[in-house]
Amino acid sequence: MPEATVYKPVTVPFKEKSDYPVPLRENGLLEEYLTGNHSHDIPEKTLNLEVAQMIAKLEAKPTFNPNLKFDPKKHIIFKDESFEGTTTATLKDLGINRTRTAPVSDFACAHPFPLISQEAVDMILWEALRPKVLKQFARLPNLSRNATRLDMHMGGHTKFEAPFSKDLYTSAEIARIVSKFTGVEASTIHNSSYGHMNISLATADPDELKEIPTEKKDLLAAYDIQNTKKGHEIPATLGLHYDSVTFALVIMLDLDPEAVGGETGIITGDDRVFRVPDPKVGYATLIQGMVLRHVATKPISNSNRITAVCGFMPCGRGMELDNCRLTSNKPSVLSRSSNNLYYSDWFDYRFENLQKHLQFQRDSIKEKFERGEQFDQLEMIKICKDMERYLYDGWKELEAVHNPPFPPEEYKTPYDQLPDYEY
Ligand SMILES: [Fe+2]
Repeated sequence: MPEATVYKPVTVPFKEKSDYPVPLRENGLLEEYLTGNHSHDIPEKTLNLEVAQMIAKLEAKPTFNPNLKFDPKKHIIFKDESFEGTTTATLKDLGINRTRTAPVSDFACAHPFPLISQEAVDMILWEALRPKVLKQFARLPNLSRNATRLDMHMGGHTKFEAPFSKDLYTSAEIARIVSKFTGVEASTIHNSSYGHMNISLATADPDELKEIPTEKKDLLAAYDIQNTKKGHEIPATLGLHYDSVTFALVIMLDLDPEAVGGETGIITGDDRVFRVPDPKVGYATLIQGMVLRHVATKPISNSNRITAVCGFMPCGRGMELDNCRLTSNKPSVLSRSSNNLYYSDWFDYRFENLQKHLQFQRDSIKEKFERGEQFDQLEMIKICKDMERYLYDGWKELEAVHNPPFPPEEYKTPYDQLPDYEY
C-alpha cells in the first residue's frame, strides 16, 4: 500500500498578515506593475537608431516576405542524426546532486544543435522588432547587471503580432525534439512563456562606441577577467537565475560571428560557470532551467546578441501538474510581463492542465473499478493533495499576497546547501 505523501498544510498568506504586502523598489521589484512598467519603456533613441537599422536590413533581403507562413519542412533544419551527434549532460555529469525542487528527468543540458533556418530566424526577428510591437511588448530589464538602453526583454507578442513565430514555437516538430532530448513528453506552456526574447544590441552611436574595446586581444583579455568571476558578478542580459519553467529551449537569433562572450553560462555543482560553447545563429541549446542556475552573458564586444527562449513543461498523460512557477516571470519582476496578459495566460494554462488532470483521474477511477480493484483511499488523498498544491502554487506568488525581495536567496545558494524540497 503506498504511503500518504508528506504534505505540509497550506498556510494562506493573507494580505494583511504578509511581511511583504506590496512590491517595493528597494526589494528589487517594479512598483508600477499594474500600469505597464512604463518607466522601463524602450528609449526612442534605440527604436529610431539600432532597431530601425535592423528592420531595414531584414526588409532589404531579396526573399523578405512579411506574410511568410511557417513550413516545418523548410524552416526546421534539425536532423535526427543530431540526437546522437549533440553533446548532452545529465545533472550528475555537472556534479549537481541537490536541486531546489525535484527534477523531472536527469537531463541537464544539450549543447548547441542546428534547429531553424536563416529565413525562420529573420522572420522571428522581423515579427518581434517592429517598433509598434516592441513598444507594447518589450521593456528595459529590471535587474540585469550593466544593462544599458540597448538591452531589453520582450515576449507575450506571439498570439497577437507574430503568427509565424507562434506556429514555429508550438509546432509538433519542436515539441518532439525537446521531448526526445529530455526524455520527457513535453509541450510549450502558454503565450507569455514561449517566444520570450533577451535582446542586447550593438550600439550605432559613435560616442558610445568609443567606450568599447575593438582590438581582439583587448576583448579576449576582458573575457579572461570575466571568466574568473562568480556567476552573479558577470555582466549579463539576464542575471544569475533559475527559470520558472521546467525546460528552456534557447534559440540564437543574432550573434556576430566575431563576438566575444555572449554564451549561456550554467553554474555547475562546484559553483563554477560553465559556458555552453559556440552558439551559432539558428542553433538552440536546451536546459532543465527549473533546477539549473544559469546566466545569459552579455558579449564583451560591440555585438548583437538576441535569443528566443521557449518554455516547455512535461505533458504526458497523468503528468499534467508541472512544476512551473511565477517567481522570475511575474510582472513585478519581469518588466515586459503585463498584469492583464501575463496572468490571463498563466491561469488559462493552469486551469487547462488541471482540467486535463481531473479528466485523467476520472478515467483512472472508472478503469480501476471496472477491473475490480480495491479503492485505495491513501492514494486518492495524495491525488487530491497534489491538485490542491497545483492550485496553491498557481496563486501563492501573486503580487496581491507575496512580494519578497528579488532575487530570492535560493538563486545565490550553492546547490549542496539547498534545503530539502518543500514537498
Ligand atoms: Fe533562463
